[in-house]
Amino acid sequence: MAQKILVTGGTGYIGSHTVVELQETGFDVIVVDDLSNSRIKVLDNITKITGTRPAFEKFNLADQIKTLDFLSHHNDISAIIHFAASKAVGESVEIPVKYYRNNLNSLMNLLDGMKNYNIPNIVFSSSCTVYGQPNHLPVTENTPRKDAESPYGNTKRVCEDILNDTITAYPQLKGIALRYFNPIGAHHSALIGELPIGIPGNLIPFITQTAAGIRDELKVFGDDYNTPDGSAIRDYINVVDLAKAHVVAIRRLLEGNNKSGYEIFNLGTGKGLSVLEIVNGFEKVTGVKLNYKIVDRRAGDIEKIWADTTYANNELGWQAIKSLEETLLSAWNWEKNIRNIK
Ligand code: WQD
Repeated sequence: MAQKILVTGGTGYIGSHTVVELQETGFDVIVVDDLSNSRIKVLDNITKITGTRPAFEKFNLADQIKTLDFLSHHNDISAIIHFAASKAVGESVEIPVKYYRNNLNSLMNLLDGMKNYNIPNIVFSSSCTVYGQPNHLPVTENTPRKDAESPYGNTKRVCEDILNDTITAYPQLKGIALRYFNPIGAHHSALIGELPIGIPGNLIPFITQTAAGIRDELKVFGDDYNTPDGSAIRDYINVVDLAKAHVVAIRRLLEGNNKSGYEIFNLGTGKGLSVLEIVNGFEKVTGVKLNYKIVDRRAGDIEKIWADTTYANNELGWQAIKSLEETLLSAWNWEKNIRNIK
């Protein structure tokens, strides 16, 4: 009997790619999503890729009654991967209460259910945003967290503390927080990918929409940073490499290989790339000339960050392996597929 994994936010960008990897590894997956920032059609496309349609229930995990009722009827779940959260940095500045209520209550309801119904394992979707602008680079898991640059980032930091404190109080629970750097790209089938609703906040979907003619021009937010070409540096990790890391983390918990009840891993490539390097890389690999303009810095942006991946590589036996070229091409193929561009 295949072990059953609950994936919250499983119709989202990273969630959908993780569902594919879980199914292809032989796990039985059930997805819970409120579809506030994703489409049910993603389940059809996951099914096309893996041949198995994940079970699905639609509700918001911040609803305590629904979440506890769901878990009481699914206490055969071996582990939870918790992606579901509000994640738009800019919006979180405008309506912080929505972000704290949704992101914190969702996690707390899941933890209550895990404790009540003996569901021992959880992998939590965290973010390198908890490091703010690090004083030293690259960033290790021991790099001190800093005051978040946004309410969204602070919800990730507080959720890590909620998880850590709950596991301390209830040692029957085990958890891993995965701190993502910048996830980009799409599944090679071009059937799933990043599908921002409205104007994209993140760099890669804005690039692919500009290349597709949906956006007139890409604005590069600042070229006066203290970096080689003046534009900001990030650690861009292929979303499939990232999804595979979640399967490794789940198996670590299920097989009891975790070294402590609460563990943290950075998920990056270990290489920093600037915005202009990404732009040039996209033009080179796709042959599409991008219309872009350098404008002022975006409020809240940090200058540079990239991961020291040694601990994740050694402890998890996982490494990001897909090249930037393959990753940028996958993002472009996805954009072309959803826009019916040949
Ligand atoms: C990357 C770089 C921008 C758009 C955020 C969250 C993080 C995670 C990923 C959720 C920056 C520049 C961007 C554009 C640009 N989100 N840029 N023009 O801000 O590093 O991280 O998204 O989990 O938690 O903080 O990602 O893709 O928005 O920006 O020049 O139109 O691209 O200034 O330097 P970011 P991003």
